Amino acid sequence: MPNPETPSFFTFLVLTVLAAAALVTSKSTIEPCSNSDSCNAMLGYTLYTDLKVSEVASLFQVDPIALLLANAIDISYPDVENHILPSQLFLKIPISCSCVDGIRKSVSTHYKTRPSDTLSFIADSIYSGLVSSDQIREANSISDPSVLDVGQSLTVPLPCTCFNGTDNGLPAVYLSYVVSDVDTLAGIAGRYSTTITDLMNVNAMGGTTIAVGDILAVPLPACASSFPRYASDFGLIVPNGSYAITASHCVQCSCGPGNLNLYCMPSSLAVSCSSMQCRSSNLMVGNVTMQQSSAGCNVISCKYGGFVNGSIVTA
Ligand SMILES: *[C@@H]1O[C@H](CO)[C@@H](O)[C@H](O)[C@H]1NC(C)=O
Ligand SMILES: *[C@@H]1O[C@H](CO)[C@@H](O)[C@H](O)[C@H]1NC(C)=O
Ligand SMILES: *[C@@H]1O[C@H](CO)[C@@H](O)[C@H](O)[C@H]1NC(C)=O
Ligand SMILES: *[C@@H]1O[C@H](CO)[C@@H](O)[C@H](O)[C@H]1NC(C)=O
Repeated sequence: MPNPETPSFFTFLVLTVLAAAALVTSKSTIEPCSNSDSCNAMLGYTLYTDLKVSEVASLFQVDPIALLLANAIDISYPDVENHILPSQLFLKIPISCSCVDGIRKSVSTHYKTRPSDTLSFIADSIYSGLVSSDQIREANSISDPSVLDVGQSLTVPLPCTCFNGTDNGLPAVYLSYVVSDVDTLAGIAGRYSTTITDLMNVNAMGGTTIAVGDILAVPLPACASSFPRYASDFGLIVPNGSYAITASHCVQCSCGPGNLNLYCMPSSLAVSCSSMQCRSSNLMVGNVTMQQSSAGCNVISCKYGGFVNGSIVTA
C-alpha cells in the first residue's frame, strides 16, 4: 500500500484522473427509436445560482406552472413565477422527448448567449452537466468555440429516454440524472425507490461503477393516462408524488401516493375554462359519488378524458 501522504501517490492519482478525463467522455444512456412520436421525460437539474421560477422555465422553454407542479411546489402563491429558487436546488424538469436520427433526445431547448459565456460554462453550470460543451459545439456547428457571439441562439441537445413509458411492465417516467461526486449507485437507487439491478438493466451497465458526469436514466414509478391518440395530451404520464397541468391550464392531474391511478380535477388556475361537467350528470371532472340502488352500490365518476381540438373530453 502506498502511503497516501506521499506526493508521488498524489501525482499518480492526479495523472490517472487527467488521463481518464482525456480518454473517456462521460457515459450517457442512449435509447434507439424508430417512430417520430415524442414522449414525456424528466431532466434532473441543479440550479447553478439563485434563479426565478420563470428564469429556470425559460432556460428549458417549459411552462413555469408545469415546472412547479412537477416538483410538487404550491402554485397558489401570488406571483409564484417570480419566486426565487435557491442555488443548488435540485429540480425535475418535465420535457418532451423526441426521436432524432434514430435516438431519443430533447432538441427543443435554445439558449441565448450572454457576455462572458463560454461553452463549458453553459454546459457544466447553466445546464448543470446535462449537456457537454462538445455536444453544444456539434449541434451548432461551431468551428471556433472561443468566439461566441453575444445573443447567439444555441440549440442545447438534452438527454432523455422513455422506454415506452414502462419499467418492468409498470408505468414509469425516466429522469435523466447527472451523477455527482457524492453519488453511489445504491444511493441513487434508494433515493428514487428503485433497485441497483433495475438501474443496471435500464442503463445496460456491466458493473455498479458510476463516474461523475455520467447521465443515468432513472425510472420513476408513474401514473399513465389513457387519452385517445388524437388528444393533444395523449401519452400524459405523471410520476408518483407529482402533478401535471393540461388542457390550457384547466385541468390538473396527480399521481399517488396511495395508488398509481392518474387523478385529474379542475386546476386552481381554471378561471376561464369551459364546463367540466360530465354529460347527463351534475358531476364535475374528478368527482366520484356512490349511489345506492336496488341492485347494490353504484360508483359513478366523472373522469377527464383528454384535450381534443381545444375541448375537454369527459367520461
Ligand atoms: C409499448 O407499450 C404498449 C402498451 O403501453 C404496448 O402495446 C407496446 O407493444 C409497447 N411497445 C414496445 C416496443 O414495447
Ligand atoms: C409513491 O410515493 C409514496 C410516498 O410519496 C410511497 O409511499 C409509495 O410507496 C410510492 N408508490 C410507488 C408505487 O412507488
Ligand atoms: C365535485 O368537484 C368539485 C371541484 O373539484 C368540488 O368543488 C365539488 O365539491 C365536487 N362535488 C362532489 C359531489 O363531489
Ligand atoms: C378536430 O377538428 C378537426 C377539424 O376542425 C376535425 O377534422 C376532427 O375530426 C376533430 N377531431 C375530433 C376528435 O373531434
